[in-house]
Amino acid sequence: MSRSGVARALAVLLPLSIAAACARASDGRTVITYAGSAVGAEGEVLARQIARFEAQHPELAVTVVPSPDASDERHQRYVQWLNAGVPSPDVLQLDVVWTPELAAAGWIQPLDRYHVDERSFLDAAVRANRWQGALYAVPLFVDVGMLYVRTDLVPQPPGTFDELDAMARDAMTAHGVRYGFAIEGARYEGLVTVFLEVSAGFGGAILDPHGGVVVDSPADVRALSWLRDAVRHGVIPTAALGWQEEQARLAFQEGDAVFLRSWPYAAPLFADEAAGSRVAGKFAIAPMPATDDGRSAAALGGAQLAINARSQHADAAWQLVEFLTAPEAQVERARIAGEYPSRPALYRDGSLDGALSVPPADALAVIERATARPVTPVYAELSSALQIQLHRALTGQARAEAALTQAAGELRAIVGATEQPIGGDRSSSSVGALALLAVIVAIVIVLARRRRGRASSPAPLPREERLGWTFVAPALGVILLIALFPLGWTFWESLHAHDLRMPWQGRPFVGLAQYVSIGESGRFWAALAHTALFAIVTVSLELVLGTALALAIDGLRRGRGTARAVTLLPWAIPTVVAALIWQLLFADAGLVNAAITRAGAPHGLPWLVDATLAWVPIIVADVWKTTPFVALLLTAGLSQIDRTLYDAARTDGANRAQTFVHVTLPLLKPAILVVLIFRTLDAIRVFDLVYVLTGGGPGTATEPISLYAFTTLFADLRFGRGAALSMIVFLLAFGLALGYVRLLGTGEEERA
Ligand code: GLC
Repeated sequence: MSRSGVARALAVLLPLSIAAACARASDGRTVITYAGSAVGAEGEVLARQIARFEAQHPELAVTVVPSPDASDERHQRYVQWLNAGVPSPDVLQLDVVWTPELAAAGWIQPLDRYHVDERSFLDAAVRANRWQGALYAVPLFVDVGMLYVRTDLVPQPPGTFDELDAMARDAMTAHGVRYGFAIEGARYEGLVTVFLEVSAGFGGAILDPHGGVVVDSPADVRALSWLRDAVRHGVIPTAALGWQEEQARLAFQEGDAVFLRSWPYAAPLFADEAAGSRVAGKFAIAPMPATDDGRSAAALGGAQLAINARSQHADAAWQLVEFLTAPEAQVERARIAGEYPSRPALYRDGSLDGALSVPPADALAVIERATARPVTPVYAELSSALQIQLHRALTGQARAEAALTQAAGELRAIVGATEQPIGGDRSSSSVGALALLAVIVAIVIVLARRRRGRASSPAPLPREERLGWTFVAPALGVILLIALFPLGWTFWESLHAHDLRMPWQGRPFVGLAQYVSIGESGRFWAALAHTALFAIVTVSLELVLGTALALAIDGLRRGRGTARAVTLLPWAIPTVVAALIWQLLFADAGLVNAAITRAGAPHGLPWLVDATLAWVPIIVADVWKTTPFVALLLTAGLSQIDRTLYDAARTDGANRAQTFVHVTLPLLKPAILVVLIFRTLDAIRVFDLVYVLTGGGPGTATEPISLYAFTTLFADLRFGRGAALSMIVFLLAFGLALGYVRLLGTGEEERA
């Protein structure tokens, strides 16, 4: 089964079993299942409210179904459940940008029959939850992007971007503050929300009101150039290009930044001196700046509740949604978890007095500027294309204008793909499939004939050989099942335009179109080049260092076993852990930068956010981790060499170098080939190390081919294209393996 097949099966089985077990509790109550944030303060509010709900509705019971807390992972889990058509969870907590995607796919229910009073909710939040004229989710709480200001360092919040820049620089000089403006500038969703605000401030937008892509407008270019200049001038620290909201929040909380762009959740933490905040009593929130051509905007985020389209208890589920989004429940949520209610009236009628760590009027001033991100079912893919180009510009890999032109082109293609049906009608699809099958069968027959032609007249199999085949047949069967079947399945999938986000497009057969479009993609060729660069550099370094290490160990008179065991330690550490260790070492305030500055450099280097420097931690980590393995294989090779040959060489007057070149190396060749096979095959499939260390960034400057395939499959949910990319990775690895086997084979024959 393909990876998607396994995921689908698990996705079906897990919640189905939950649903089967829980649809009716043992006491006869109807069970409603709920998926959403349930840890920390959010978990506390949820538990309290569910207990009250159950007390009011004795016929209902609510079960919280575990789901990942990280937003991207939760999204993937939901897509797997809903695509599999399971009826549980009944109620789903969604990020605001997911509603159109799930609604368009038919996975969540329109809520019109419940006559929601939409006017009592924040308008922007309601609009973000509507799709094709119907409301699909009710806002539970809103997140809004806001400016945090150090009131002890600047006289008042900046009104314009130039003012922000000037105030930040003055305060940095006058008070020795490290950073001017802390932002969540890593290549992820947070960066899009920051850009959306700055862009609106300059009068730009990502899409126009009709859904047309306008992200390359002059206003957007000015916005991105302002951000880039702020990085160049040191107002936004380069390190912030690797920060998500938590790192940015910590910088401000430590007293290291004049301004911060973040979300409401940070305010209670800043106000808490007892928990170590250095800015308690010294901060305020304000709307983001704007120029005369633009308007101050707050990116709208936050959570909504929707009902599974397959829910068997939709009305009961609705009662829960209504209960959790009621005014009292929202005020309680604000008091306990600091989350902003989605009902503007609560900010005016005194209900929130003392509930938020800032005056409710200030909070209202920000939420009234709430601006939704593009409301489209392909938001995730739009965002990921935009993130890459924004990050390229901010890390100096492209000029603002070029990056946005490129982004606009990609966004137009993505939006365009949702509008036109792909592939032909069903009959032409089956004709295409049959034609392709015929070509494959023809190739197989021709190859088989050529083989038979080459072989001398085949003699009947001797009895033992037949017996041998009978014995290995079960093993061959298993291999066929676990290796060839998934491979065939993946290949078949790659011939279809299967896009989980757009189920209404079906799964049309498109022949080799995915491969053609991959071949036309610059990102693919760049990923291929990165993979080759990584493989060549790491494997060469590992071979040279591994040989040196093996020779050193081999030359030891005593303690060879211990030496071997000690050097193997890095290899025994799981890759993800190793990657995290190296990430800490190469972080902005990590040991490597500390060592550099101690050695006299004026400042550390932006290792993880510079397109060239980012390769250093990746290569160092891989070489550190894998050289011991190479050395181990080579010591085994060395121990096979007949020692008398060295004595003979010495007698003949050969020096150490000559002995190494003429005796050791040739005899080590088989071991070296084994090393090359293992290492190159591993290197061209590299994934986890890069995923953890740089995520393939800055931009996509360190993205290898496997990571590109992974993103296409599991973030963009383009299964057909992802399958085609996986096939390409497989063919590369397989081709290389075949080449090596031939090489090894020749060596053996020569010796024989
Ligand atoms: C916040 C917002 C969410 C947004 C995310 C970006 O969690 O609530 O809507 O997508 O930040 O990082």
